[in-house]
Amino acid sequence: MIHRAIVRRSALVIGIGAASVIAACGGGQGAERPPSSAQSGAGTPASGEAPSVSPSAITPSTVDVLLCDGKTKVNVPQGTPGTAIAGQLMAEWMRKNPNSGWEAEERERHTLQPAADNSALVGQVEGQTYGRITPQDVALWKTETERVATAGSRVFHDAGELGSTIGVSCDMCHPHAANTHPETYPKFQAQLGRVALLRDMINWCIEHPVRGKALASDDPRMRAMEAYILAQRKGKTLEYGKH
Ligand code: HEC
Repeated sequence: MIHRAIVRRSALVIGIGAASVIAACGGGQGAERPPSSAQSGAGTPASGEAPSVSPSAITPSTVDVLLCDGKTKVNVPQGTPGTAIAGQLMAEWMRKNPNSGWEAEERERHTLQPAADNSALVGQVEGQTYGRITPQDVALWKTETERVATAGSRVFHDAGELGSTIGVSCDMCHPHAANTHPETYPKFQAQLGRVALLRDMINWCIEHPVRGKALASDDPRMRAMEAYILAQRKGKTLEYGKH
């Protein structure tokens, strides 16, 4: 089943102080979360915490984590591993979205997609200033482009680089950047209450399920992650606005 693969990947989450809300990339309507989901997710074996029967109880020893959709939420004991948190959230989300195709997409990509091959341009005149395009030019373009995407892959897979306070990284739920759908941006995201660019969604996910600090648009980590996420969707038709 889908969630198995996803669950395996996460890192470890160290709970935060007071009960707080961690969202996984989704969005803002977290407020209307029925207590039931928190309960179902909460009863993990993790710590000997008193059964979190009352999700509304604010105790310093549990933490609410909100998924990217802004609706799915679990309550876990402080110190629960990130992989377990991500796994619980995804299991709950999959239960509600059985036809999402998440698993199929997950299997789709396994390595960094290569940048376009521009060797057909060798010998063409690029402009008076630069003369003809050489094989070295073409090789440089490709290497440098792939270098940025690879750097993005590193950030995407690294809770520390992402500034996660709970040991969660993007790949725990989006292996190989699956299901990030960069080709559908910009689009209106209810969680954000506005039209989101890909970087807005990345930041939303950093702030919520990953529980880190939003990155500046020109932060090298943000630039690299955008490159990586787009690289992994090579060949997909652009469909901005698609849900
Ligand atoms: C705990 C699991 C989890 C983690 C961790 C997580 N995501 Fe997500 N993400 C999801 C789920 C589930 C959705 C789908 C939400 C929905 O219903 O729209 C999603 C949605 C998204 C989307 C929107 C996809 C679309 O179709 O528009 C993007 C982009 C995204 N995540 C990027 C990231 C990035 C970047 C990170 C790391 C900074 C990250 N996610 C971390 C589970 C996760």
